[in-house]
Amino acid sequence: MRGYILAIDQGTTSTRSMVFDQDMRVVGSGQREFPQHFPDSGWVEHEPEDIWTSVTETIRLALANAGIAASDLAAIGITNQRETTVVWDKATGKPLHRAIVWQDRRGAPICEALKEKGLEPLFAARTGLLLDPYFAGTKLSWLLDHVDGLRARAERGEVCFGTVDSFLIYRLTGGRRHVTDATNASRTLLYDIGRNCWDEELAGILNVPMAMLPEVLDCAADFGVTDAALFGAEVPILGVAGDQQAAVIGNACFEPGMMKSTYGTGCFALLNTGTDRVASTNRLLTTIAYRLDGVTTYALEGSIFIAGAAVQWLRDEMGFIKVASEVSALAEAADPNQRVYLVPAFTGLGAPWWDAEARGAIFGLTRGTGPAEFARAALESVAFQTLDLLDAMQQDWEGHDGRTVLRVDGGMVASNWTMQRLADILAAPVDRPVFLETTILGAAWLAASRAGLWPDAKGFSARWHRDRRFEPAMDTTERAQATAGWRDSVRRCLSS
Ligand code: G3P
Repeated sequence: MRGYILAIDQGTTSTRSMVFDQDMRVVGSGQREFPQHFPDSGWVEHEPEDIWTSVTETIRLALANAGIAASDLAAIGITNQRETTVVWDKATGKPLHRAIVWQDRRGAPICEALKEKGLEPLFAARTGLLLDPYFAGTKLSWLLDHVDGLRARAERGEVCFGTVDSFLIYRLTGGRRHVTDATNASRTLLYDIGRNCWDEELAGILNVPMAMLPEVLDCAADFGVTDAALFGAEVPILGVAGDQQAAVIGNACFEPGMMKSTYGTGCFALLNTGTDRVASTNRLLTTIAYRLDGVTTYALEGSIFIAGAAVQWLRDEMGFIKVASEVSALAEAADPNQRVYLVPAFTGLGAPWWDAEARGAIFGLTRGTGPAEFARAALESVAFQTLDLLDAMQQDWEGHDGRTVLRVDGGMVASNWTMQRLADILAAPVDRPVFLETTILGAAWLAASRAGLWPDAKGFSARWHRDRRFEPAMDTTERAQATAGWRDSVRRCLSS
């Protein structure tokens, strides 16, 4: 009996595959890192063949670790780094350029030119996004302008564009399906999230031939069947979602008002707004949280570029710690009478500031400031940035108090000290789940529920358990002073 689910998490620096059994337990997994390429300042690329190899290898590893064969799998779910842009030959599946990664800034001049023409409100109204090089549309525009003959071939229907999910499905199905899901489509600047279709006018503005765009499906749908030659048996691909959206699902944030925040290198907070498509007036993104049975659930999203990366900076550049896990003990030893603020605008500031030119700074240094105060300031910066997002969400979504429980996941949440500080600064409870791999679990659930193997959203939510709730405990005056100090520090870092 095909009782297992395989989920793939194709992330920015590594790929993981996990096998889950019918009781939603992990029974096997595999992980592979792959090279990053930085060909120019602000440019980040991946070799699509490296991504593909990491996927096939981790699938084989996960199956071997679980002691099962592909013929034991009921379905596959895929989640992926979002916005990263791939173009490939429709006939051969061969990539026509390296993938341009979400962090890559080369589309900035294209965004500026569009903004100067006053087109940002149009893009925002249709796609829920801002004109920022983060999104796939201007990366694709750049490729069409710079890869010899690409546009002409794309116009003839010989070229496929896709985010990483789409490229993987194409390869996994032996070139039979060129599809994506609604969450990934919603990150392209080309997708109308209200009408749920590609927008011909926006594609025209970005000079993107419609023929190269994938078909967009629900997150739980029939994405095709794997080529039997790959793993020894055909397996249906039944679930797909971008990684941050998959974490919304994996953290069972199915109700409007529920919110998750993932703390990895950066931090992505998504607030489920239900079928309400809330337009942000505070420079947050409106995005598709998931689309199931044709019904679109929306989210407000805040993206922070530096979270765990601030801890890496303490380790690699400052040499204050040897391993990341030492940071909380160091922060705990900080002098409570010193108020030191780190604004980690190392690559500019994300939401709600979107200031690409801002740079990092540290404020409040005294003769007694040392590594412990730096460590505390770095961890607190993550909490303060989350507070900025929460405040913006609260202002954007009228009637919502923005102070609901926050469900967290990602590497940083292992630190009790950081989670307590987060609850203190947000003045809201923070819930840490027992099962921390929420992103890959979300992809597994999409596939497994479609296969009829796992419970529906309600049953799945009932199976979500928290490991611990962190209740806010900071004194109100202290919190107000700390927050005012943070806001003042950020203001001093902004470029204009
Ligand atoms: O939007 C970018 C995000 O999807 C990347 O996530 O976990 O691969 O860094 P991650």
